[in-house]
Amino acid sequence: MRIIGIAIVGSNGVIGDGHSQPFQIAEDWARFKRVTLGHPMIMGRRTHAAIGRWLPGRTTIVVTGNPDGVELPTDDRATGHAASSVAEALELAASLDDEVYVAGGGSIYLQAWSELTELDLTEVAAEADGTVFFPPVEPSEWQEVAREQREGFAFVRYLRKAESASVD
Ligand SMILES: NC(=O)c1ccc[n+]([C@@H]2O[C@H](COP(=O)([O-])OP(=O)(O)OC[C@H]3O[C@@H](n4cnc5c(N)ncnc54)[C@H](OP(=O)(O)O)[C@@H]3O)[C@@H](O)[C@H]2O)c1
Repeated sequence: MRIIGIAIVGSNGVIGDGHSQPFQIAEDWARFKRVTLGHPMIMGRRTHAAIGRWLPGRTTIVVTGNPDGVELPTDDRATGHAASSVAEALELAASLDDEVYVAGGGSIYLQAWSELTELDLTEVAAEADGTVFFPPVEPSEWQEVAREQREGFAFVRYLRKAESASVD
């Protein structure tokens, strides 16, 4: 089962200000669509609100304390669910596919962090203003396995390192 955290991140770790994300890179958005298409995607209610629509071709699971307040998609191009916790969202996503994307925001990355098996990051070589951060990617925890450099940013994949065996 692959559970992949996907984000575009400034060099200072900023991913947003609570309402929007600071980077508008067409190639990143196109790649995000290509990578996530056909797979379940988990996101917090604020991120869903920031996107402002149900993304077509994917199943979006919105995490919220008020699942009844989520207006589900009305046409069949997109599929949507509301879940009342990250654990519930992960369980639902796992019942649908063995490749699941965790698409933010900050609170959801943090709560899903220990379950993530991979990171698919667009690392921007510039700081951004904002109050919402991606968790630190520690080299002790994550192994970089691929990097596609572009002008001013890079697409970078990380795999979680196997936990080292206890030496006790
Ligand atoms: N750069 C990127 O790649 C990227 C990606 C995604 C998002 N972002 C940015 O990140 C920011 C949003 O992040 P955020 O941390 O403020 O918000 P968020 O994680 O998107 O959503 C937070 C909301 O999720 C719900 N939630 C979180 N944990 C929950 C739990 N355990 N149980 C029930 N509901 C829970 C709550 O919804 P209710 O209030 O409805 O209860 C909470 O208000 C925005 O600026 C967005 O643009 C950036």
